[in-house]
Amino acid sequence: MPVILSPSVLSADFLRLAEEIHDVRGVEYLHVDVMDGRYVPNITFGPKIVRHLSTLGIPLDVHLMIEEPERYIEDFIGAGAHFLTVHPEASVHLHRTVTRIRELGARPGIALNPSTPPQAVEYVLADVDLVLVMTVNPGFGGQRFIEGQLPKIRRLRAMIDALPGPKPLLEVDGGIDPETTPLVVDAGAEMLVAGNAIFGRPDRQEAIAAIRAAAQGR
Ligand code: DX5
Ligand code: ZN
Repeated sequence: MPVILSPSVLSADFLRLAEEIHDVRGVEYLHVDVMDGRYVPNITFGPKIVRHLSTLGIPLDVHLMIEEPERYIEDFIGAGAHFLTVHPEASVHLHRTVTRIRELGARPGIALNPSTPPQAVEYVLADVDLVLVMTVNPGFGGQRFIEGQLPKIRRLRAMIDALPGPKPLLEVDGGIDPETTPLVVDAGAEMLVAGNAIFGRPDRQEAIAAIRAAAQGR
């Protein structure tokens, strides 16, 4: 299956961000991990960097790992987020948050931690454009893929397929490389985040081609 690729800039060299992103040209999205040091034990960057990234010609898939994301959605959408994804545990009124994201002109997404059940998204599934399954615990790049998440990806695939209307994309994030790609694609994922497996390689175009080939079963 052809996949939608979203390389995670978390693994890029931050001093050379523009050149790093030029190296991954041709990908469908750029995955941008925003962390606040509270929802996850790491801090990255805010809307200012997102605004700069938005000028580089690749639509942004912004993953908010922050508490009370509703306080910042306007800033991140103003900064150019195409997809804006939040975690249900971080936002008490999740339906209001995803509805607001759409009203402000971005495409809402929901992210599930390894311990979060698929039922957490059941009643907002029809209101989002993206469901992101974490296959590592959020906070850091370069962690090991958690294989026990595959049944959850399958379950979400079935839930999404059963929706009568427009269907959100099913994205997987964490430990994706040419070995794990066939597993998640078989389970029904159609959009893949990869940090280390792309920016950690010397030839980024070769790394991208290897993941695309693995998804196609070649
Ligand atoms: C982890 C982030 C991921 C991370 C993926 O909290 O959500 O997007 O950058 O990195 P890799 O592909 O190296 O596991
Ligand atoms: Zn992410």
